[in-house]
Amino acid sequence: MLVLGIESSCDETGVALYGSDGDGGLLAHALYSQVRMHAEYGGVVPELASRDHIGRLVPLLRQVLAASGRSLTAIDAVAYTQGPGLAGALLVGAAFAEALATALALPTVPVHHLEGHLLSPLLSARPPRFPFVALLISGGHSQLMRVTGVGEYALLGETLDDAAGEAFDKTAKLLGLGYPGGPALAALADSGRPGRVKLPRPMLRSGDLDFSFSGLKTAVLTRVRELGTLDDEQRADIACGFQEAIVEVLVSKALRAVKATGLQQLVVAGGVGANRELRRQLDARAARARIDVFYPELEFCTDNGAMIALAGALRLQAGVAGKEPGAFAVRPRWPLTDA
Ligand code: KG4
Ligand code: ZN
Repeated sequence: MLVLGIESSCDETGVALYGSDGDGGLLAHALYSQVRMHAEYGGVVPELASRDHIGRLVPLLRQVLAASGRSLTAIDAVAYTQGPGLAGALLVGAAFAEALATALALPTVPVHHLEGHLLSPLLSARPPRFPFVALLISGGHSQLMRVTGVGEYALLGETLDDAAGEAFDKTAKLLGLGYPGGPALAALADSGRPGRVKLPRPMLRSGDLDFSFSGLKTAVLTRVRELGTLDDEQRADIACGFQEAIVEVLVSKALRAVKATGLQQLVVAGGVGANRELRRQLDARAARARIDVFYPELEFCTDNGAMIALAGALRLQAGVAGKEPGAFAVRPRWPLTDA
């Protein structure tokens, strides 16, 4: 069965074709990132994002069909991100997917964006098996989930304020780095000296599985104000101290969640999962605790169409893709536990 996946929830337009049930797995995928357009404004401008998605979808679809050697008529279903995300951006993908499916008389599968992220390691050569714990760390969300099967997600803990990616982005801004800040901050941290700048580890010993990152960002702000003008070395040391603090909290809570559930597998998904220091620390501590850690391929860590095509295919396979034919609505705010 061939499932077309459409992602347009934020600033990346993604299209992919996934063949389930022995139909070849991921056949092709294409992505257009709007990062350069938004960089000029220091963050995502929702209206510009929506308009740009409109112009990208048809060329990306053509690219995916050409790369896979399949025609439109070979597609069996169309999956698209229904939420959460920017309402206008979601509407572009949803309208495109529904229109295409209506023209081809195909079923559609609305997909939760975070479900796409947490299932994305299943695209890897060494995939995890259900059940597992998922650490979802993106620009908008930080959650620990117990994943029993497709569509079976229980929330174990989440951020009480900023998401991990948001904390990276805001701290990057404080240090004068451009948008998107996460990768830039991580690169700067590499040249900083570990242990030089000590920052708080919020809620590390709270005894639960929740996170809080806004205090960490404020601690950076206070440090930046104390120092006045920063030289390159000071900026790198602060970036390094910030990364050390956030990584320690994420790693500790994720491993605690795995222990609390009695499971042995941890899946890390979402843009912050691309962070190299996080992977290094997690791999080291998980190995000692005999926990198996799974990451999506780097290209599927951040937003993409492949994870949406995969989630759609798995939902169809599991018989949990239900939706009224022709009816659609986007869900800019949508808890994963309701998906
Ligand atoms: O999953 P994603 O692409 O989009 C959302 O669904 O939000 O995640 C984007 C987030 C941004 O906040 C970005 O700064 C962060 O992931 N990010 C990183 C890294 N790469 C992306 N944060 C830290 N280190 C990285 N290497
Ligand atoms: Zn995402």
